[in-house]
Amino acid sequence: MAGKIVLVSGCSSGIGLSAAILLASDQHKRFKVYATMRNLEKKKELEERGKYVLGDTLFIKAMDVCSDDSVNAVVQEVISAHQRIDVVINNAGIGYFGPLEVQSMDSARNIFETNFFGVLRLTRAVLPYMKSNKEGHIICVSSMGGINGVPFNGIYCASKFAVEGLCESLAPLLKTFNVRCSVIEPGPVSTSFFANTKMISESDALLDEVDDETKHLLDNCVKKMRGSFSTMVQTPDEIAQVILEALDAERPHFRYQTNKNYVSAAANKLVDITGDKSMEMMHQRFFS
Ligand SMILES: NC(=O)c1ccc[n+]([C@@H]2O[C@H](COP(=O)([O-])OP(=O)(O)OC[C@H]3O[C@@H](n4cnc5c(N)ncnc54)[C@H](OP(=O)(O)O)[C@@H]3O)[C@@H](O)[C@H]2O)c1
Repeated sequence: MAGKIVLVSGCSSGIGLSAAILLASDQHKRFKVYATMRNLEKKKELEERGKYVLGDTLFIKAMDVCSDDSVNAVVQEVISAHQRIDVVINNAGIGYFGPLEVQSMDSARNIFETNFFGVLRLTRAVLPYMKSNKEGHIICVSSMGGINGVPFNGIYCASKFAVEGLCESLAPLLKTFNVRCSVIEPGPVSTSFFANTKMISESDALLDEVDDETKHLLDNCVKKMRGSFSTMVQTPDEIAQVILEALDAERPHFRYQTNKNYVSAAANKLVDITGDKSMEMMHQRFFS
């Protein structure tokens, strides 16, 4: 086969951009990468970093994962050109951080629309082709927040839990069609994600509505997070390498933890039947 056809969402920056560049720059040209972004005005960095492979193994297209028309148009374009899509990397995502009671329902829906329904939309669009070709790999960039709920990050974590549930349900079924499904679970990564994330902090007028104890806990939590992020953060290139590892594996895992600092938290969760240990661990980490 002359290069796997790869479709990636959210390539204007961060993990999506790094993954697109890594795969499109493969020495043996094993991948033809359709790197998509919702706003093509942001394509400069990808074009610059990918200039040696642009038009050869790297193609930049517009795709908004919140739009059926946009997703279907790109999938159809790729299928018309190659009659197949071998790999989908569901990467596009947005965040939110703050007390639940001040997060609007519109904001919560928007997070689900992007992080969960975006994944669902693109996955549904490519599945019939992967199934009929009896080949494919669906990779979803989830988060350690898709395994362990993080305080003040409830809707984001819920959206990633939803992605994990969807993928866990799909993986055993799709195996029958030789289609693999893997989730990538990074901890903190140095991308624009936090700059793009709506962070409700001390100075935010929305906090006027919130009780003093919650404000105090939020403040402490932000400080602890900043502390741990500065020592545990990974680069988007490191996450892209894990994605490549999953693609290269003869028998890819279902779950890839990218950050060794969070492996024990995930391991605890997966054997902690009552959920008490995980809850206590998060309480200790952020509030004591
Ligand atoms: N950074 C972290 O610490 C971290 C940790 C764990 C998991 N993750 C996950 O990693 C993934 C990538 O995030 P990142 O860290 O690389 O952050 P990022 O640099 O902010 O990249 C997010 C990408 O998603 C795109 N996007 C947002 N809404 C979209 C939509 N409706 N349609 C298409 N694209 C859309 C953004 O496009 P615009 O430029 O147009 O906004 C951007 O290209 C996300 O799913 C995130 O949840 C990140």
